Amino acid sequence: MIQIKKTGTHISFSKKNLRKVQNKYSQTNLIKIQKFLDKSLLKFIQQTVRSAEFYPRTDRGIATESCMRQNTGINAMHFLLNDPALFKAVERITGCKKIGCFAGRMYSLIPGRGHYDHWHNDIDVRHLRYVGISVNLSERVYQGGVFKIRNRFSKKITAQIANTGFGNAFLFRISKKLQHRVTMPTGRNPRTVLAGWFLPKKRGVSFMRLGSDGTVLTKMKTRRPDNRPVSRVQIPDEVVSKRTASGRLVVNAKTRICLRLDGIASHFWELLEELKDVKAVSRAIQKEYEVDPVRLEKDLKFYVKRLMFKGLLIRVKD
Ligand SMILES: [Fe+2]
Repeated sequence: MIQIKKTGTHISFSKKNLRKVQNKYSQTNLIKIQKFLDKSLLKFIQQTVRSAEFYPRTDRGIATESCMRQNTGINAMHFLLNDPALFKAVERITGCKKIGCFAGRMYSLIPGRGHYDHWHNDIDVRHLRYVGISVNLSERVYQGGVFKIRNRFSKKITAQIANTGFGNAFLFRISKKLQHRVTMPTGRNPRTVLAGWFLPKKRGVSFMRLGSDGTVLTKMKTRRPDNRPVSRVQIPDEVVSKRTASGRLVVNAKTRICLRLDGIASHFWELLEELKDVKAVSRAIQKEYEVDPVRLEKDLKFYVKRLMFKGLLIRVKD
């Protein structure tokens, strides 16, 4: 239905399927999204979690948890989830008003650490929040750790979910009339998630320290341009991209250096992702378009050099 890959948001639902999830959300205030993160992205994020630094975080007596410090994984998730295509899909499912931003954090609830999560509603007077999301990043199946949502007044539980499937997610409604909580995981395995909210405004979320399109342009260290000829290339693990109205935005989530590729340049990138070989890309473009091969070769060299210079591509030895 909705899947996030290293190349951005991929959406496929039939009208019938959409109506079904809309009805389910309106009745229960929660909707499950199977395989929200694709295998390759999940594997990369889990690697970043393994080497992450965590700190104890307390939320005004509501909850305590082990929270992850900002790192490559969080940068990548913020970049990918701040995508108008995803916003539109969430708006269609939940019926919420226009989303302008996603903000979130990654955290673990670890059995035996005294972590807790009491009933609360995620209402923040400073930032209006429409819809919450939780994505399971755990590497092992945890016990307990059930998310419950209830009517604040009648106390009737409208939905509950353990969400133990790897990379699965669920969306839940934020409302003054509702409350939610997560029961503590039992057993040995922690419950590690990306949790966040879809918000109306692009600004006002200071902790994420990211711009409106989920990226921050940082100053590049001066690097010597590599003038050797390039044949095979590879996209580094930490590089993710998403579609924009005019092409594609590519970012290195580690350095936060990004490049906007418009028109034919974004097509170059998509072919490079698929074929990983500069000459094969050149052949594919020549099949598709009537272009001067010499000019094309020159353009391709230019883009590859530029992408390598910004750490968005790396050379692979033949
Ligand atoms: Fe919450």
